[in-house]
Amino acid sequence: MSKARSGRFAGERSAAFIALNSSLTLDWRLWPEDIEGSTAHTQALKRAGVIADADLRAIEDGLAQVASEIESGAFVPRDDDEDVHMAIERRLTELCGAPAAKLHTARSRNDQVVTDVRLHLRRVIEGHRDALRGLQELLLARAEPHVETVMPAYTHLQRAQVTSLAHHLLAWFWMLERDRDRFAVALDACLELPLGAGAAVGLNYDIDRAAVAAELGFERVAPNSLDAVADRDFACDYLAAAATLAIHLSRIGGEIVLWATAEFGFVALPDAVSGGSSIMPQKRNPDAAELMRAAGPRVAADLQGLLTTLHGLPLAYNTDLREDKRYLFDAVDCIQALLPVVAELLAGVKFDTGTMAAACGSFLMATDVADELVARGLPFREAHHVTGALVRRCLEKGCELGELPPDELAALSPALAGGIAGLADARRSLAAKVSAGGSAPVRVREQLALAREALEA
Ligand code: ARG
Repeated sequence: MSKARSGRFAGERSAAFIALNSSLTLDWRLWPEDIEGSTAHTQALKRAGVIADADLRAIEDGLAQVASEIESGAFVPRDDDEDVHMAIERRLTELCGAPAAKLHTARSRNDQVVTDVRLHLRRVIEGHRDALRGLQELLLARAEPHVETVMPAYTHLQRAQVTSLAHHLLAWFWMLERDRDRFAVALDACLELPLGAGAAVGLNYDIDRAAVAAELGFERVAPNSLDAVADRDFACDYLAAAATLAIHLSRIGGEIVLWATAEFGFVALPDAVSGGSSIMPQKRNPDAAELMRAAGPRVAADLQGLLTTLHGLPLAYNTDLREDKRYLFDAVDCIQALLPVVAELLAGVKFDTGTMAAACGSFLMATDVADELVARGLPFREAHHVTGALVRRCLEKGCELGELPPDELAALSPALAGGIAGLADARRSLAAKVSAGGSAPVRVREQLALAREALEA
């Protein structure tokens, strides 16, 4: 008979119900945090005078033994253990007998599980933040040599104006910088201790929750026991940060997929993260970048899954909440598997700067021509119209912007009579983008310094 049912029930659980009700595949990874939380709880019981010194020692030694058995693979849970908490308590009971029966005094699985998850998530988030910082360092290193490397910037995926490869890579850098900030906020939400809330309403024991919090590295004690066991906001905060990161990775991956096509030809992908085709021997597939792209919808769905699990759920604990880990850990697994591959991809990708430069045809400088006409006294709308007509004429003749003869230029507008010599030059166009946050090398060098500062902060 399961410990959670003993006494109350006459009949056994059915096999089908045991299978349905077991959350071991969802929560087994929480075993280190469950042992840690139980150890801190046992010490609190001792301090509150609920258990004796000898019990404390027996339980502490027992928990350490369970941990080493799990680590070595000597102890594996059974399906009918129901969850990680019951599995560990069962093994503890087998190992140390009577004192183990006192461990669950002044505690419910409801406050236990959410304590474990918060502890676990803290570590996960710290890992994400380190990995993100690593990616940002990589992007900085890849951007630095390319402050003067021209490439097209796109709007509507049509070639628009000239930018630099460094500026583009730094755009990715800032996306990840904000993601790192969002994870810091999510981390803070994990720093509230639920343990001590009991099943829902608090305990008949004066447990020193602040001491438990300090012991487990929490900054605050949850101020309301009902909220403490029902709250999964912290997991939503994590998933929201993870979803935005995954969407960012999907946009970066999507661009790399495009850049790796023969049509773009901006990058060559490293062997280490490229796939082949089982039939077409010539293929080099951008699998890593495609999986970055696919991570966006996956993690966004995880966020949706948890939010809708919480929707309309009455306080306090409900078994629906068990499903939090399905969504949460799917996102964790997705991000943890992805980030090292993203690092390999960003470190190994080769940029074809010649192709990027060749893609900066003279029409990308049309806005520069319009701006020059503004300098010559035309209102911008008129300058826009004249330059549009100039582009049309060049397209008709099959020539570049700088190639129209002076008489044709003068016929288009007196403002063009002075010619547009030198304007249809990608490097000149780049250097002219001097507004704060712009593409000009002088601005991008400042941006690199800002980015370095952000990493050091
Ligand atoms: N395994 C459950 C979870 O993951 C914890 C048990 C909650 N309590 C209960 N009476 N079922 O949320």
